[in-house]
Amino acid sequence: MAQLWGGRFTKETDELVYKFNASISFDKRFYAQDIRGSIAHVMMLAKQGILTETEKEEIIAGLTGILEDVREGSLEITEEYEDIHSFVEAALIERIGDAGKKLHTGRSRNDQVALDMKLYAREEALLLDRQVKEVLLAIYDIMEENLETYMPGFTHLQKAQPITLAHHMGAYFEMFKRDHERLQDIYRRMNTCPLGSGALAGTTYPLDRQYTAAILGFDGPTLNSMDGVSDRDYLLELLSALSIIMMHLSRFCEEVIIWNSNEYQFVEIDDAYSTGSSIMPQKKNPDIAELVRGKTGRVYGALNSLLVTMKGLPLAYNKDMQEDKEWAFDAIDNVKGCLMLFAGMLRTMQFRKERMEESAKHGFTNATDAADYLVNHGVPFRDAHGIVGRLVLTCIEKGIALDDLSLEEYRKISPVFKEDIYEAISLKTCVGKRVTTGAPGPAAMQEALNIYKRYLEEY
Ligand code: ARG
Repeated sequence: MAQLWGGRFTKETDELVYKFNASISFDKRFYAQDIRGSIAHVMMLAKQGILTETEKEEIIAGLTGILEDVREGSLEITEEYEDIHSFVEAALIERIGDAGKKLHTGRSRNDQVALDMKLYAREEALLLDRQVKEVLLAIYDIMEENLETYMPGFTHLQKAQPITLAHHMGAYFEMFKRDHERLQDIYRRMNTCPLGSGALAGTTYPLDRQYTAAILGFDGPTLNSMDGVSDRDYLLELLSALSIIMMHLSRFCEEVIIWNSNEYQFVEIDDAYSTGSSIMPQKKNPDIAELVRGKTGRVYGALNSLLVTMKGLPLAYNKDMQEDKEWAFDAIDNVKGCLMLFAGMLRTMQFRKERMEESAKHGFTNATDAADYLVNHGVPFRDAHGIVGRLVLTCIEKGIALDDLSLEEYRKISPVFKEDIYEAISLKTCVGKRVTTGAPGPAAMQEALNIYKRYLEEY
């Protein structure tokens, strides 16, 4: 046990209490952020005349040495310290002596940990955002190649109307585009520096908070020291953005699993992204898609846990807040892993275009267009709906598609039908005529693609 706060105590901390209280086993992850924050703090203390230039130089050299040694593995972060802050300070004092004892002047672990966590979350938000871009790029490429790859669009998982693969992919492009914008937005809002908030009530030292905020790349300092040490909104926002990303990935994975099933065979997941069965030799399972779908639960769990932890906390810092870390780390690690694997799976997946097209043809996805044909020839829509319903029934009885029903049969039910009905209900026509903004028609999707291209260039 090695503590920063022994002075007013007359007994040793109970061993179990010490372990229960300690956070080093997980907060050691942000040693680099902790040291970076300390260096900024020390630069500011010297600028304000609170430390001498020599003390500043000594402390910065000491901290830089610790950073390098931890990075290359020659200095191990041992768990005899309560947390990463204690570890770094103790290592500094051991290396440079008395000057090291001045590092914590005008600072508390409360504003220190608030800063470390924010620095960490801010970096991770950027890394996550870059991975979202990889997914968008993969989707974009599939869209570009499949403007005229027809497939059924579904509602209630029942074939509804024909669309294209580009259109289906485009829906996901929109989702991940919003995810990118959410991350950017959260980044902007979280970019204020809590350092200098002290334990909760600022400090009597003449700190220059603008200066430390600028060194650390923040837009400025937080404006209330109580909020500065106890705000975890930015983490909640990040976890909620991650939950939504996972929801999108999970829906996409669910579709990939369905499409990859023996019944659908719309896609084939690459061997490199599939797994086998220990007993059934024929099996090739979509485990990666299933795991991404499965891991969505733990990310929601992280968001929910932190929300519940925060809800009853009086101002300002409370130890409950130490619980923010493991959930956040777990969620961030998992989402990064999922985004990376998902992008790889998507890029290597084979789309069976003929199967998709066949499926669109044989699911009466053009029934609405057959009704529209009648409407265009003066039949009221409600009547048209009934006529086509009867045609569909005839086709079901015969086991054929609307495209294969003879003109004679068509005219038996309505004499309005002419030879051009076949052209009117072909997949090419059905899809090609839907060219309002956002519709599946290749012309409309090409317009969306042009916008997406610019979007990705500016990303
Ligand atoms: N390990 C603590 C945390 O993660 C650091 C802050 C400790 N502050 C305190 N007053 N005990 O929240």
